[in-house]
Amino acid sequence: MELHKNLGVDLVPGLPMNMRLKEFVEQIDDFAVRGFEVNSFSEFYRTYTIESSDLEPYTLFSDHSYARNLIHRTNAYELILMVWRAGQSSPIHGHSGQLCWMRVIKGKFSLINYEESNDGKLTELSRSVGHEGCVEGPSHIHKVGNPFDSDALSLHLYARPLGTYKVYDMDQGKDTEETASYYSVDGKRC
Ligand SMILES: [Fe+2]
Repeated sequence: MELHKNLGVDLVPGLPMNMRLKEFVEQIDDFAVRGFEVNSFSEFYRTYTIESSDLEPYTLFSDHSYARNLIHRTNAYELILMVWRAGQSSPIHGHSGQLCWMRVIKGKFSLINYEESNDGKLTELSRSVGHEGCVEGPSHIHKVGNPFDSDALSLHLYARPLGTYKVYDMDQGKDTEETASYYSVDGKRC
Protein backbone atom coordinates (compact mmCIF):
# COMPACT_ATOMS: atom_id res chain seq x y z
CA MET A 1 0.00 0.00 0.00
CA GLU A 2 1.49 3.34 -1.08
CA LEU A 3 -0.26 5.41 1.52
CA HIS A 4 2.15 7.87 3.04
CA LYS A 5 2.84 9.69 -0.23
CA ASN A 6 -0.79 10.78 -0.27
CA LEU A 7 -0.86 12.09 3.26
CA GLY A 8 -1.73 15.72 3.64
CA VAL A 9 -3.63 17.61 6.26
CA ASP A 10 -6.84 15.82 5.31
CA LEU A 11 -7.51 12.15 5.75
CA VAL A 12 -7.21 10.02 2.66
CA PRO A 13 -10.84 9.17 1.74
CA GLY A 14 -11.77 5.54 2.11
CA LEU A 15 -8.67 4.48 4.01
CA PRO A 16 -9.21 3.10 7.49
CA MET A 17 -7.75 5.06 10.37
CA ASN A 18 -7.14 1.80 12.19
CA MET A 19 -4.83 -0.46 10.20
CA ARG A 20 -3.90 -4.04 10.72
CA LEU A 21 -0.50 -4.33 12.36
CA LYS A 22 1.11 -5.76 9.22
CA GLU A 23 -0.01 -2.78 7.09
CA PHE A 24 1.06 -0.31 9.75
CA VAL A 25 4.56 -1.83 9.88
CA GLU A 26 4.76 -1.73 6.06
CA GLN A 27 3.99 1.99 6.18
CA ILE A 28 6.68 2.57 8.80
CA ASP A 29 9.17 0.59 6.69
CA ASP A 30 8.53 3.10 3.88
CA PHE A 31 9.15 6.04 6.20
CA ALA A 32 12.33 4.35 7.41
CA VAL A 33 13.67 4.14 3.85
CA ARG A 34 13.18 7.92 3.62
CA GLY A 35 14.78 8.65 6.98
CA PHE A 36 11.62 9.45 8.98
CA GLU A 37 10.98 12.95 7.70
CA VAL A 38 9.52 14.56 10.83
CA ASN A 39 6.48 16.39 9.46
CA SER A 40 5.14 13.64 7.25
CA PHE A 41 5.76 10.91 9.81
CA SER A 42 4.12 12.97 12.56
CA GLU A 43 1.09 13.42 10.31
CA PHE A 44 0.93 9.70 9.62
CA TYR A 45 1.26 8.82 13.31
CA ARG A 46 -1.44 11.30 14.31
CA THR A 47 -3.83 10.04 11.66
CA TYR A 48 -3.42 6.27 11.65
CA THR A 49 -2.99 3.61 14.26
CA ILE A 50 -3.23 -0.13 14.78
CA GLU A 51 -6.44 -2.14 15.22
CA SER A 52 -6.83 -2.67 18.95
CA SER A 53 -7.27 -6.45 18.53
CA ASP A 54 -3.78 -6.59 16.95
CA LEU A 55 -2.31 -4.90 20.02
CA GLU A 56 -3.81 -7.35 22.50
CA PRO A 57 -0.92 -9.88 22.32
CA TYR A 58 1.47 -7.07 23.35
CA THR A 59 -0.64 -5.74 26.22
CA LEU A 60 1.39 -7.30 29.03
CA PHE A 61 1.44 -5.44 32.34
CA SER A 62 3.99 -5.49 35.10
CA ASP A 63 3.05 -4.61 38.66
CA HIS A 64 6.59 -3.34 39.29
CA SER A 65 7.01 -0.75 36.56
CA TYR A 66 5.55 0.38 33.26
CA ALA A 67 6.22 -2.39 30.73
CA ARG A 68 7.99 -2.08 27.36
CA ASN A 69 6.52 -4.64 24.95
CA LEU A 70 8.42 -4.87 21.68
CA ILE A 71 6.20 -5.26 18.62
CA HIS A 72 8.71 -4.85 15.80
CA ARG A 73 12.38 -3.93 15.50
CA THR A 74 14.70 -3.26 12.57
CA ASN A 75 18.08 -1.52 12.36
CA ALA A 76 16.22 1.73 11.63
CA TYR A 77 13.44 1.73 14.21
CA GLU A 78 11.52 -0.09 16.91
CA LEU A 79 7.81 -0.07 17.63
CA ILE A 80 6.89 -0.63 21.29
CA LEU A 81 3.59 -0.84 23.14
CA MET A 82 4.11 0.57 26.61
CA VAL A 83 1.55 -0.35 29.22
CA TRP A 84 1.12 1.55 32.45
CA ARG A 85 -0.79 0.64 35.58
CA ALA A 86 -2.32 3.55 37.45
CA GLY A 87 0.50 5.33 39.28
CA GLN A 88 3.38 4.08 37.09
CA SER A 89 5.75 6.61 35.61
CA SER A 90 9.02 6.90 33.66
CA PRO A 91 11.99 8.74 35.11
CA ILE A 92 13.03 12.03 33.52
CA HIS A 93 14.99 10.80 30.52
CA GLY A 94 16.49 11.93 27.25
CA HIS A 95 16.73 10.33 23.84
CA SER A 96 20.26 10.83 22.61
CA GLY A 97 20.02 11.06 18.88
CA GLN A 98 16.87 8.98 18.50
CA LEU A 99 13.60 10.40 17.32
CA CYS A 100 10.73 9.28 19.55
CA TRP A 101 7.02 9.59 18.89
CA MET A 102 4.35 8.52 21.36
CA ARG A 103 0.66 8.05 20.61
CA VAL A 104 -1.85 7.60 23.42
CA ILE A 105 -3.83 4.43 22.67
CA LYS A 106 -5.88 4.21 25.85
CA GLY A 107 -6.24 6.25 29.02
CA LYS A 108 -4.37 9.47 29.61
CA PHE A 109 -0.86 10.57 30.53
CA SER A 110 0.98 13.30 32.31
CA LEU A 111 3.62 14.67 29.90
CA ILE A 112 6.42 16.96 31.10
CA ASN A 113 9.10 18.29 28.77
CA TYR A 114 12.46 19.67 29.89
CA GLU A 115 15.36 21.57 28.44
CA GLU A 116 19.00 21.01 29.44
CA SER A 117 21.28 24.03 29.68
CA ASN A 118 24.99 23.97 28.80
CA ASP A 119 25.89 23.39 32.45
CA GLY A 120 23.60 20.32 32.60
CA LYS A 121 20.74 21.92 34.55
CA LEU A 122 17.18 20.97 33.60
CA THR A 123 14.36 23.44 33.25
CA GLU A 124 10.74 22.42 32.88
CA LEU A 125 9.40 23.63 29.53
CA SER A 126 5.83 22.37 29.43
CA ARG A 127 3.38 20.21 31.31
CA SER A 128 0.25 18.73 29.76
CA VAL A 129 -2.18 15.83 29.80
CA GLY A 130 -2.21 13.57 26.73
CA HIS A 131 -5.57 12.02 25.95
CA GLU A 132 -6.47 9.13 23.66
CA GLY A 133 -5.26 9.81 20.10
CA CYS A 134 -2.79 12.49 21.17
CA VAL A 135 0.71 12.31 19.65
CA GLU A 136 3.83 13.67 21.35
CA GLY A 137 7.11 13.95 19.56
CA PRO A 138 9.71 13.87 18.46
CA SER A 139 10.56 14.20 22.14
CA HIS A 140 13.90 15.17 23.66
CA ILE A 141 14.03 15.23 27.46
CA HIS A 142 10.78 14.30 29.13
CA LYS A 143 8.91 12.42 31.82
CA VAL A 144 5.83 10.38 30.99
CA GLY A 145 3.51 9.00 33.62
CA ASN A 146 0.10 7.68 34.44
CA PRO A 147 -0.89 9.35 37.74
CA PHE A 148 -4.54 8.66 36.94
CA ASP A 149 -6.95 5.95 38.15
CA SER A 150 -7.04 3.67 35.10
CA ASP A 151 -4.51 1.60 33.14
CA ALA A 152 -3.09 3.33 30.09
CA LEU A 153 -1.45 2.26 26.82
CA SER A 154 0.93 4.17 24.57
CA LEU A 155 2.50 3.26 21.24
CA HIS A 156 6.11 4.42 20.80
CA LEU A 157 8.16 4.65 17.66
CA TYR A 158 11.91 5.10 18.15
CA ALA A 159 14.07 5.88 15.15
CA ARG A 160 16.59 4.36 15.56
CA PRO A 161 16.10 1.69 18.24
CA LEU A 162 16.58 3.05 21.73
CA GLY A 163 19.55 1.03 23.02
CA THR A 164 20.62 3.33 25.81
CA TYR A 165 19.12 6.51 27.20
CA LYS A 166 20.04 9.13 29.74
CA VAL A 167 18.16 9.28 33.05
CA TYR A 168 18.22 12.53 35.00
CA ASP A 169 18.03 12.99 38.75
CA MET A 170 16.98 16.61 39.23
CA ASP A 171 17.44 16.51 43.01
CA GLN A 172 21.03 15.29 42.78
CA GLY A 173 21.77 17.22 39.57
CA LYS A 174 23.16 14.03 38.02
CA ASP A 175 22.46 11.86 35.02
CA THR A 176 23.18 8.19 34.31
CA GLU A 177 23.19 6.07 31.18
CA GLU A 178 20.60 3.26 31.26
CA THR A 179 20.17 0.34 28.90
CA ALA A 180 16.66 -0.11 27.57
CA SER A 181 15.17 -3.53 28.23
CA TYR A 182 11.93 -5.17 27.16
CA TYR A 183 9.23 -6.76 29.27
CA SER A 184 8.16 -8.86 26.28
CA VAL A 185 9.25 -9.44 22.70
CA ASP A 186 6.79 -10.60 20.03
CA GLY A 187 4.17 -11.10 22.75
CA LYS A 188 6.39 -13.38 24.86
CA ARG A 189 7.76 -12.46 28.29
CA CYS A 190 11.54 -12.01 28.31
FE1 LIG B 1 10.83 8.89 26.16
